Amino acid sequence: MITVQEYLSEKGCEEDLARLICLIAEQAGPIRRAFISNQRYAASLNTSGEVQAEMDTWSDRHLTQQLAASGLVSRIASEEQDEVFECNASFGKYSVVMDPLDGSSLIAVNLAVGTIVGIYEGCSVLRKGKEMKAALYLLYGPMTTLTLSIGSGVALFSLDDDGRYLLMEDTIRMPEGTIYGSGGERPKWTKKHASFIAALEAEGAKSRYSGSFVADFHQILKYGGLYAYPAALGKPDGKLRLVFEAQPIGFLAREAGGRISNGSTDILEIMPEKVHQKTPIYVGSRGIIERLEALQE
Ligand code: AHG
Ligand code: MN
Ligand code: MN
Ligand code: MN
Repeated sequence: MITVQEYLSEKGCEEDLARLICLIAEQAGPIRRAFISNQRYAASLNTSGEVQAEMDTWSDRHLTQQLAASGLVSRIASEEQDEVFECNASFGKYSVVMDPLDGSSLIAVNLAVGTIVGIYEGCSVLRKGKEMKAALYLLYGPMTTLTLSIGSGVALFSLDDDGRYLLMEDTIRMPEGTIYGSGGERPKWTKKHASFIAALEAEGAKSRYSGSFVADFHQILKYGGLYAYPAALGKPDGKLRLVFEAQPIGFLAREAGGRISNGSTDILEIMPEKVHQKTPIYVGSRGIIERLEALQE
């Protein structure tokens, strides 16, 4: 099995981008080791109004330090920082958007959580998702895995005991599938969302939802189906964030032949106005997303 470094050089990945991707992937070890001594909640709220878990802020600080010290990054947009972080290396070639720890409410019950990262060339973090140079997520489950795309398909790597990421699957294709996971409280679903889910259930779709976007999406990437965090009554933009959750995951979904939509529009075509803006998310198999968007017409 080849390593992520070998994979990136075989794909002709630009050297500094490859270095940045490997630097980020290497932080899985320190993050995994930090869980045991960062089990509590901080007293602070993030910009989305969420109570920050200690691991949210620990991962955010750790990744920010590593990225800033690399000299490769000029700006960082993070779920856990109000403002965009300006690295000293203002000449840094890349900008990074990140959800340092996704699914943090599940740490207390030891379910799989992850880190989501998108990388753009240049110094702006507010970009259309389709302009991403690389998107990846680390998933801290029974294995530590890296799911990565640099725009030539999606590859899956597993971290071995020697700290190497070994290629497990290359050019992953998202099949049509019958799993669905939907966030939000069912009584607050809009009629449109509720009837779409009811139609899928009537066709035998099975619900699988853990509350960790990375873990729930990973199942859809492998088995096909739908992950939704919809608009709800009183929450027209849903809960998840456009810049550091929807765009990187959507880039990976598209690279695997799937799609991401806000219910009517391809999210990768949307230009964000604010770093922390939220969006309804429907991400999954192409056929399901196209069927959903056809309903809106
Ligand atoms: P984060 O921990 O980064 O704030 O993300 C949590 C998100 C996402 O991971 C998950 O799909 C969703 O919140 C779960 O929300 P509910 O608890 O409302 O289902
Ligand atoms: Mn959060
Ligand atoms: Mn998240
Ligand atoms: Mn998070």
